[in-house]
Amino acid sequence: MLKLGVNIDHVATLREARYRGREFGEPDPVVAAKICQAAGAHGITAHLREDRRHIQDRDVWKLREAARRLNLEMANTPGIVSIALKLKPDIVCVVPERRLEVTTEGGLDVAASEKALTETRLKMNDADIEVSLFIAPDERQIQASARVGSQFIELHTGAFAEEFSKPAAGHRSPAIEKELQRLIAGAEQAHALGLRVNAGHGLNYGNLSLLHRVPHLVELNIGHSIVSRAVSVGLETAVKEMLALMKDYRG
Ligand code: PXP
Repeated sequence: MLKLGVNIDHVATLREARYRGREFGEPDPVVAAKICQAAGAHGITAHLREDRRHIQDRDVWKLREAARRLNLEMANTPGIVSIALKLKPDIVCVVPERRLEVTTEGGLDVAASEKALTETRLKMNDADIEVSLFIAPDERQIQASARVGSQFIELHTGAFAEEFSKPAAGHRSPAIEKELQRLIAGAEQAHALGLRVNAGHGLNYGNLSLLHRVPHLVELNIGHSIVSRAVSVGLETAVKEMLALMKDYRG
């Protein structure tokens, strides 16, 4: 069964828009996480950014208590690594936050920082925390991820979502098909190398059906579209609607 991790960063984004620098405020990402889980979400994803632009330290500690499965997105920096080792999320997903860590397509440049990522991977695994690397569906990056020894990769679906969102692109545009083929090839390569495969970024109620063609997916991490939809129909319904679109995934 394809799992859903709801990224609740944008709940915190809304809170910070009004309550930045305060120790309280609404909406509360922890309350949101509980609603998502009650609606059937399998896990909660939150990104503790170095600049703390949305999720704050106090949030991740409360989320650790509340989340069935907590996926902490993080940069590979000493400060954040040290927080993760104390927090003990179920899994960390290493993402790029600085220009140097990023490939042209927005994923983590694993090939350029294999040594540092392997060190972090070992520390996390020693603390019983699984590791995922957020990468573009790029052969070189997938090979490097296998060498780092991460348990998962998360395929960056941003380029696919971007093509899909172009006006009048239609479901069969060659550009969308090309991005889909890259995701399919990436998932197959990763699976053959023993990596488990998640996907995320830019996934929404419109483009999700096409993603069913990508094999071997374990979990989708979806944030913006669910939080946006929640403004109209409520968070519980928004999560249930997404799960309904995912339920026929056959891998
Ligand atoms: N996965 C990763 C690694 C992310 O950094 C993000 C947030 O950008 C997401 C998934 C969720 O993306 P979105 O908010 O576009 O659904």
